[in-house]
Amino acid sequence: MTLCSESASRLSSEEIRRRAAALGPWFHNLDLNGVWTAPEHFLGDYPAVKWRRFAQAIPADLSGRSVLDIGCNGGFYSIEMKRRGAARVLGIDSDEAYLAQARFAADVTGQAIEFRRLSVYDIAALGERFDIVLFMGVLYHLRHPMLALDLIHEHAARDLLIFQSMQRGAAELEPVREDYDFEETKPFDRPGWPKLHFIEQRYAHDQTNWWVPNRACAEAMLRSAGFEISAHPEEEVYICRRVAAPEGAGAVYPMRGPSA
Ligand SMILES: C[S@@+](CC[C@H](N)C(=O)[O-])C[C@H]1O[C@@H](n2cnc3c(N)ncnc32)[C@H](O)[C@@H]1O
Repeated sequence: MTLCSESASRLSSEEIRRRAAALGPWFHNLDLNGVWTAPEHFLGDYPAVKWRRFAQAIPADLSGRSVLDIGCNGGFYSIEMKRRGAARVLGIDSDEAYLAQARFAADVTGQAIEFRRLSVYDIAALGERFDIVLFMGVLYHLRHPMLALDLIHEHAARDLLIFQSMQRGAAELEPVREDYDFEETKPFDRPGWPKLHFIEQRYAHDQTNWWVPNRACAEAMLRSAGFEISAHPEEEVYICRRVAAPEGAGAVYPMRGPSA
């Protein structure tokens, strides 16, 4: 059931607990007027623990700005963006169960946020660019991660991209040269070479994990899609600015029309 914010924000703790349980299990541990949605999260108080490590790197006042939260899950970051005064926040996710959680969380916390079921692959259908795009914790869940970054660049990002990905492998970086000779094979084995690790079966018991980059690869992919890294406030988090994409970059993927 969808509630108007006013009535949801007045629910008793018992009623919030009952509805939150019915909407579970939750990945986001949210404080819904004193009721916690995922207190047993394997990463602790997640994603608040991560947010605390990079929150200062995002403008404290988002008045007048529009925000797109891709893979919004239970709505934690959408709610935080709205709390910072964003004029418009749109959260999208491919999973209707998470969107139902996000709608409930936004209602209970009294935040006016729009949530829509939409895959990142279909963001061209929004026909809109956003001042700030959050793309947190989604890249490694995609079979086509570079395509997603290209599409975000081509259709949705206007200025800032807040990006996060799980990383595995070496954290070293080595300078990227303009070119390498065909006979040069050693650079591929060096820890600082960008590597995207393919997961054929499962990782962390999750069959939706497909590609996990090392640090060099996460950074190279962002640059290659036309996102200049302006800050790296947390191990996995990057604040980027949209710039012109390098020659040869770009998505070859048609926008799905309304009838598709
Ligand atoms: C690990 S959670 C990250 C949630 C949140 N962004 C965060 O950082 O805490 C990944 C989310 O991405 C969503 N997702 C997976 N594939 C997607 C796709 N193709 N388009 C949009 N969302 C997707 C999942 O449903 C899930 O809610």
